[in-house]
Amino acid sequence: MTTEQTLTQYKTLIDKELDRCLTFPPCRQQRLTEAMRYSVIAGGKRIRAIITLEFAKLCGGTTEAALPAACAIELLHAFSLIHDDLPCMDDDDLRRGKPSCHIAFDEGTALLAGDALAIYPFKLISDSTNHGVTPENALKMSALLAENAGHLGMTGGQQIDTQFDALTPDDLLQMYELKTSRLIQTAAAFGCLSANADDKAVKTAEEYGKSLGLAFQIVDDILDMTGDSSEIGKPTGSDAKNSKKTYPLLVGVEQARKTAEHFTNQALTLLDRFHGSDFLKQLTIKLLDRNK
Ligand code: IPE
Ligand code: IPE
Ligand code: MG
Ligand code: MG
Ligand code: MG
Repeated sequence: MTTEQTLTQYKTLIDKELDRCLTFPPCRQQRLTEAMRYSVIAGGKRIRAIITLEFAKLCGGTTEAALPAACAIELLHAFSLIHDDLPCMDDDDLRRGKPSCHIAFDEGTALLAGDALAIYPFKLISDSTNHGVTPENALKMSALLAENAGHLGMTGGQQIDTQFDALTPDDLLQMYELKTSRLIQTAAAFGCLSANADDKAVKTAEEYGKSLGLAFQIVDDILDMTGDSSEIGKPTGSDAKNSKKTYPLLVGVEQARKTAEHFTNQALTLLDRFHGSDFLKQLTIKLLDRNK
């Protein structure tokens, strides 16, 4: 199978399971559940979920055991995007090629849809014990997600992002590590934990996620400067509009690209420690060269 075919197969599986997780019976707060669905279904590259499923495979685990955690990380990521687009944050009207959640619904609903999508993942992780994850590893996953998504992780990074004034290129990388790497790191660790992998494998997977995340955010910033909005499905020039310092803005696009290549190579070297990691290597390279 080609890398492209494997990606499509993973994406189909993940989309189907996300749809199932977000199918709710009619209720009074239906506007909220519709906003949650709207922001998650039919959009997104699903790279975090794919990383979870692939690490599970590399560690000898099953897709069935890893799938709840893969969905959990995608839902949490969707929350981060809804809040990131709000007028009080990046104030962006377009996400995944559609009006952002607060445009399609309203600000209050978008705020709450984000809240709900931040909390629901913990239920999925808890329920993963019915699909082969040990209670001990489910607990580890919960703790890891709480730490990496909260004030010590993604949310903390987003806070620093709103205070762009004092940032140097190195400060920026530290902020990227929090706002972007931490969730990707969690995705990688989830795969290993769902497969009962040892601490060494989890650590290596986390280091991979850290390096990939840094490359990923630098490329995202480059695309914000040079990409095509209709292709990436979100507004370009968002960072400039918000007077945001970004890595390519501070060091230039060419140097930023080199730094992204450096972190990609670091990620690839870490994958050498996993037998059969060819697909993940191809995906890692593809993300460096992506146009969306
Ligand atoms: C966007 O992430 C936010 C960043 C951390 C740069 P993705 O580029 O993975 O967004 P989707 O899920 O594909 O929409
Ligand atoms: C996003 O950074 C990081 C998050 C934690 C959501 P950006 O603000 O650059 O992400 P996009 O470009 O809006 O997807
Ligand atoms: Mg932002
Ligand atoms: Mg943004
Ligand atoms: Mg961006």
